[in-house]
Amino acid sequence: MTEYLLKDGRKLILRDPALEDAADMIAYAKVVGAETDFLLMDENGIEGLTLEGEEDWIRGTLAAPNTKMFLGFIGSELVLLCDVRAAARKRISHVGGIAISVKRDYWRLGVGSIAMQAMIDFAKSTGVLRTLSLEVREGNDRAIALYKRFGFAEVGRHKARINVSGTYYDEILMDLDLTAQE
Ligand SMILES: CC(C)(COP(=O)(O)OP(=O)(O)OC[C@H]1O[C@@H](n2cnc3c(N)ncnc32)[C@H](O)[C@@H]1OP(=O)(O)O)[C@@H](O)C(=O)NCCC(=O)NCCS
Repeated sequence: MTEYLLKDGRKLILRDPALEDAADMIAYAKVVGAETDFLLMDENGIEGLTLEGEEDWIRGTLAAPNTKMFLGFIGSELVLLCDVRAAARKRISHVGGIAISVKRDYWRLGVGSIAMQAMIDFAKSTGVLRTLSLEVREGNDRAIALYKRFGFAEVGRHKARINVSGTYYDEILMDLDLTAQE
């Protein structure tokens, strides 16, 4: 568990998930899914996900090599979820996929930046991960600016990959080469 000071003086706690967080995480996904069109989920969160399913996901995450999920809390409220997830197949096991979301009421406080730094530090500490990869919807300028600031660069696009209420958006693929960082 690590504590950080935010731009407005409040404290952010980052910690690993526990099985007891499962219900909170399901509710969180529905809130952030409803708040933005930039995620793959909507107000229904992750479709079909049960409490047992989320608990299994947490168990799997805690056991997976070179993988880490951070939950971020301000007071007792879950405001951030992010993870670095090493690819399972051996020949790409040096690649970590990352994902991040912050509850809208807590944007612009530096939560996203703290999470990005924590994920990159974790990835480097593994001694195994060499590349971090992510996907972001075109038009998500806030997220793209954040990723570029941490050294991610666009490496390609899936054209018209994401369908939000009948509008098709490109999915931008971005990578960070950890071996190029000091
Ligand atoms: C993207 C997201 C994680 C950023 O989280 P955050 O806590 O607001 O991040 P920060 O406060 O650290 O600010 C991030 C940076 O965004 C950039 N930014 C802020 N407002 C911006 C705007 N209007 N346009 C473009 N860039 C902007 C800045 O570079 C900012 O850093 P700075 O203000 O410290 O210079 C958050 O907005 C979010 O969860 N969005 C919805 C879900 C999502 O899109 N997730 C990513 C899917 S790929």
